Parts: sequence; C-alpha cells; structure tokens
Amino acid sequence: MPTLQHLDALEILDSRGRPTLLVTCQLTSGQQARASVPSGASTGSAEALELRDGDPLRYRGLGCRRAVEHVRGVIQQALSGRAFTSQQQLDAALLELDGTPDKSRLGANALLGVSLAFARACALEQGIPLYQHFARAAGLPLTHLPRPMINLFSGGKHAGGQVAIQDVQIMPLTATSTDDLLAMTYAVFYAAADLIRERYGMRLLRADEGGLAPPFSGSEAMLGAAVEAIERAGFKPGVDVALTLDVAASHFYHDGHYQLEDTLLDGADMVDQLGAWLRQYPIVSVEDGLAEEDWAHWQLFYQQSHRQALILGDDLLCTNPRRIRHAIDQQAASALLLKVNQIGTLTEAAEAATLARAAGWRVVVSARSGETEDDWLADLAVGWGGDHIKIGSITQSERLAKYNRLLFIEQESGLPLRPVE
Ligand code: PGA
Ligand code: ZN
Repeated sequence: MPTLQHLDALEILDSRGRPTLLVTCQLTSGQQARASVPSGASTGSAEALELRDGDPLRYRGLGCRRAVEHVRGVIQQALSGRAFTSQQQLDAALLELDGTPDKSRLGANALLGVSLAFARACALEQGIPLYQHFARAAGLPLTHLPRPMINLFSGGKHAGGQVAIQDVQIMPLTATSTDDLLAMTYAVFYAAADLIRERYGMRLLRADEGGLAPPFSGSEAMLGAAVEAIERAGFKPGVDVALTLDVAASHFYHDGHYQLEDTLLDGADMVDQLGAWLRQYPIVSVEDGLAEEDWAHWQLFYQQSHRQALILGDDLLCTNPRRIRHAIDQQAASALLLKVNQIGTLTEAAEAATLARAAGWRVVVSARSGETEDDWLADLAVGWGGDHIKIGSITQSERLAKYNRLLFIEQESGLPLRPVE
C-alpha cells in the first residue's frame, strides 16, 4: 500500500513564461516522482480556481508561491505518513483538506500537482508505465491510442484575436498509426506555412499552442486556407484529412450576441452559421460552438448537427460532473473535452470521463495553452481510452513532449490507433 512520505513543490515557468507548479511526491518505498501543472488562457468560468499570488509587482500577479507553500505546508503536514490504497483515497483527502467547492482555499493547481505526482510515484512503485497505471486504476482495458486533433491555425485569445474562431485543427483520417499521422500532419502544416508565406508574406509566427496565425480577414478565410493546405499536401479534404474546430464562442459572446468579426449574430443565427460551415467544409468536430451559458442554443445545435459532427463541450462543461450531467439531460453535447486542471484532481476527472462514456459520448483529452515539458497527458489519454487527444501544433517542445511520448507508447505497447468510424 503506497505510503506518502514527503511532498515538495517548486514554482516553475510554463510555455508562456508564466509561473506554474512542479510537485514532487516521495513514497516510503523510496519511489519519488514529479509532475507539473498546465494552465489555460481561454478558460471557462466554471473552472476550479487556479491560485495565483496577486502581487502586481511579481509576474503581474500570476506568481504561484502561495500554491507552492500550500503543498509544502498544510498538504504535506496532513498527508505525510499516511497510507492510501487508491488514488481516490488520496484525492478525497485533498478535497477534504481544501473544503471548498471550487478549490479556492489551497488552489486547484496545488491539488492537481499532488494528485498527479502521487499517481506517477504509484506507477513507479508497481514498476509499470504510467499509462498502464492509469488504466488499471480506472479499471479499464488498454485498447487503442487516441487519434489526435492537431492545431493548424489559431485566432481568438491564443493569437491576438483578429479572427473569432480560436483554433482550426486537422485530424488525419487515413493514418493507421501515430507515426503515420504525424508525418501526414507535417505535410499539411508546412503546406499551410508555404501558403501563408505566399499570401501574407509572413514569417512563421506562432500562437500559444503553436498554430500559425497570419492576419486572416476572418473565419472563412482561415477555414478556406486549411482546406487548401490539405490539398496542397496532396490529400483529399474530408477523405484523408478532416477539420476540427475550437470556436471558443464564450470569448466573443456578450449580452446574448456573438461578435463574429464584423457581424453581430444572435444565438439562432450562430447555430445557422455553424451549420453552414459544416455543409461547406469537412468538419467532424465543433468545440464550444456556442457560449458556455447559452444552453438553449447548444440544444438547438445538437439537434441539428450531432449526426454530422461531434458537439464538443469545453467551457460549457469544465470537466465538471455536475455540468456534464446537466448537458446529458438537456441533450446539449455529444463529447467531453477533458482537462484535469479544470476540475483539480484525477479522481473527479475520471468521474467526468465515466459519466460521458456512459452517455455514449466521446472523450477528447486536452492540453492547455500554457503547458510544460511534462508528458503525463499522453499517458492519461491512452490509459483512460480517450478517443482523441488535443495537444496543439507539432511545434514547440511543450507540445512535442506529448506527441513524442505517444510515439514511444505506440512502440512499447503495440496498441493500434483509434479507428475512424
Ligand atoms: P486554454 O484553451 O487552455 O487557453 O483554456 C484551450 C482550449 O480552449 O481548448
Ligand atoms: Zn476549447
């Protein structure tokens, strides 16, 4: 039975140069593991609270020293010397210690760092890879590797906001392994880079998740360029390579209206706009097509479009079991975007995934726009049988750490890539 001996934490920097946490967990068996915590920018309002110091003179208030002190102080004092038979027990102890619904006392970032570092130490103690430990702990068989949705173009909050849609991603359909899939992605990514160099005379400026971010005139131009890039790379749009969108509509929604670049749309118009894009472009998944509180139009969009594309909830659901239950009851979505730091512990995120699966939904395991070189996300997506994984583009080492880990897991496990239905 794993007994926790010691916890430590350090403030480190994420891919945007903002502070985050690295947590170390040592067990009495001598096993020691580290995990670092990601952080979003395009956040949902129902996310668990990421504790920041608020000192404007240091990292513009974004320091994580208080969260670090909570791990080294109150959490370490309460948990060290205690044996935990499962991740659930450890996470329950963390939740009890925090005692707030949104993790605002100790910070969701502090709790998640401990939750993850403990999981990794337990995998080491059993002598198994982390993805196997995640599968075992969840009582799931290892069946496949997730089929990635890969960032090609960015707008919205990740790229200065000149285009409303936050991310246009590609999903290679004909690839039968991660290895193949990344080679296809490379071809499309650099075809897109050539295209924007010709059209906008631009160097490869990249957005937060590594996507290309030229000054497109609007969302249509961004979608059209994605289709062109697929063709230039020698693939058939919709047959070899599909598109997936993260509209992140909460971030251009005000007072019941969507500000789609120069056009102001009401909810019904926005649903029509999404439907028009689905007819015009080879899109197989739409994330946050509507704002997080616009439940009525999520339902309308679901009714009209769930047969053509995944209706994927990120800000809508915030990996929160209560919100997921509501969305299932309301028939507002057909897929969960799973980000463990939106909820704060592995156990609650597992509950979210289980709920989604039981409703017949797909699960898309996702990175954040602020990431580190840690690669646990790849293990989590494989271990929990994620249908898809969203890491960002195939540039920047914080993204590549996860893609490279998937390649390694693919070779080590021999698992197949999730087939396309
Ligand atoms: P975030 O964005 O990590 O900045 O919240 C990612 C997403 O919206 O999926
Ligand atoms: Zn999103």
